[in-house]
Amino acid sequence: MTEVSNASGDTGEPILAIASLTWGVGGFTILSDITLEVHQGEFLSIIGPNGAGKTSLLNVISGVNVARSGSVELAGHDITRLRPSARVRRGLGRTFQTSSLFPGLTVIENARLAAQAARGGSLSLIARPRWGDDATQAGVQALQEVGLAERATDPVADLSHGDKRKLEIALLLCSRPDVLLLDEPTAGVSVEEVDPLVEVIRDIHARGRAVVMVEHRMELVVDVSDRIAVLHNGRLLTVGSPDEVMADATVQSAYLGETA
Ligand SMILES: Nc1ncnc2c1ncn2[C@@H]1O[C@H](COP(=O)(O)OP(=O)(O)OP(=O)(O)O)[C@@H](O)[C@H]1O
Ligand SMILES: [Mg+2]
Repeated sequence: MTEVSNASGDTGEPILAIASLTWGVGGFTILSDITLEVHQGEFLSIIGPNGAGKTSLLNVISGVNVARSGSVELAGHDITRLRPSARVRRGLGRTFQTSSLFPGLTVIENARLAAQAARGGSLSLIARPRWGDDATQAGVQALQEVGLAERATDPVADLSHGDKRKLEIALLLCSRPDVLLLDEPTAGVSVEEVDPLVEVIRDIHARGRAVVMVEHRMELVVDVSDRIAVLHNGRLLTVGSPDEVMADATVQSAYLGETA
């Protein structure tokens, strides 16, 4: 499926390395001592029950929250204390569990803003969009990558949930990330739109990017992932190939049992 040749993922330097990571709020510890590596071009999914800490982990990786202890390295650089925007510039892209689009704007206007921001520009549409300017070109290219170029001039409000999720991914692509963090990309998407959305995610991954995906749909996770990490009560229960994780008795009782 990818260059990563085995379940232990010990081929070369990791693109993302999380070591002994801890995070909490007030007196509560929400993430405890998480150590996890993601390799170049790998597809790693994170599963776990509601409240396990999956979104919190993406927040600490992307800089929305700052680790209490431990470290996050991206391509060998320590990014533990960098602002989210600095992490984006270093190649980290992230979607949110809930939509982060500008619903009053068109598809291309959203993409153009993302491309402008990725170039260090402002989130402003005051300058009229000019087809052919740098940001617009980058936006169009990102739309092409997710199959939304033909919807460029449509208002975002007219898009289906599945197409909105594709657009969110296109916005990430504007900053040319090496690692994409996707938080429940299929949430709120109708059954018939899941497969086309998954194809887009597969395509993006096939073009050499590492993907870290939080997702509840087990069939999907097992199908697309090189490895699966299981979070439970803020701790990493296990990491392994889909077969290993599905066969793991602790996973069965901690996660699969609860959702059955
Ligand atoms: N900023 C915060 N302040 C207080 N508690 C928080 C905060 N962020 C997360 N939590 C708590 O941390 C725990 C983990 O939350 P998180 O959103 O990371 O879980 P999750 O695995 O993403 O769940 P879900 O599958 O429902 O999205 C929950 O108990 C949540 O209430
Ligand atoms: Mg979550």
